[in-house]
Amino acid sequence: MTGRKKKIYEGKAKILYEGPEPGTLIQYFKDDATAFNAQKKAVLEGKGVINNRISEFVMTRLAAIGVQNHFIRRLNLREQLIREVEIIPLEVICRNVAAGSLSQRLGIEEGTPLPRSIIEFCYKNDELGDPMVTEEHITAFNWATTQELDDILAMTVRVNDFLTGLFAGVGIMLVDFKIEFGRVYEGDFARVILADEISPDSCRLWDMVSGEKLDKDRFRRDLGNVIESYTEVARRLGIMKDMPTVIQGGLH
Ligand code: TMP
Repeated sequence: MTGRKKKIYEGKAKILYEGPEPGTLIQYFKDDATAFNAQKKAVLEGKGVINNRISEFVMTRLAAIGVQNHFIRRLNLREQLIREVEIIPLEVICRNVAAGSLSQRLGIEEGTPLPRSIIEFCYKNDELGDPMVTEEHITAFNWATTQELDDILAMTVRVNDFLTGLFAGVGIMLVDFKIEFGRVYEGDFARVILADEISPDSCRLWDMVSGEKLDKDRFRRDLGNVIESYTEVARRLGIMKDMPTVIQGGLH
């Protein structure tokens, strides 16, 4: 698994290794969890395995409706083969219901439905704590062109509509999520595709009946049962049968 391939980049939750062919990478999902710009850290046994599988499931379905993304195929429990992209240094956040930093910033109670979906951008920079930016900053500093931003916005709306329905179908409310995009080059032409991951690490997912949180807020807010909740998301999506028995049977 690790060791045989050259490490290209190590982030907080994933490692990228060189891929078997030019233009590909291997994305390895760690069990590490961080919050508040890595001030809070833990190892959550099995998280990487579950997120690898959930992200595969979601990316595959998004590709099937024409949302192009970096996923090629899953290689094993913790690794997936992806297309190499030039990451656009933005965290694109889409919100349907008030929660988290939006609730704090604007004083809107968590759980309040938003009048419409709201898309926000943060500049991906750990030293600065991923500050929120506007389209003006993005184009002025050449993080993305106006055309790329248009594509990013259109794709984000499609991801939101699709994921909202996907999760609603299994009794889960998609409160908000964060996605990232990258460029792939075809000759001189650059195209923007969806990259990174989509998992309970990067979404807020609430049970539609009980309101129970089934996402990384369980870790951020010390609510306990983090892995059990991620497992519940996977179970509802119908992908638990692919999990190793140690996770299927519960880790405790
Ligand atoms: P926020 O309310 O803390 O700004 O988070 C909005 C969404 O983005 C939520 O689904 C969690 C996700 N998120 C990440 O994936 N990575 C991050 O570093 C942060 C701060 C949020």
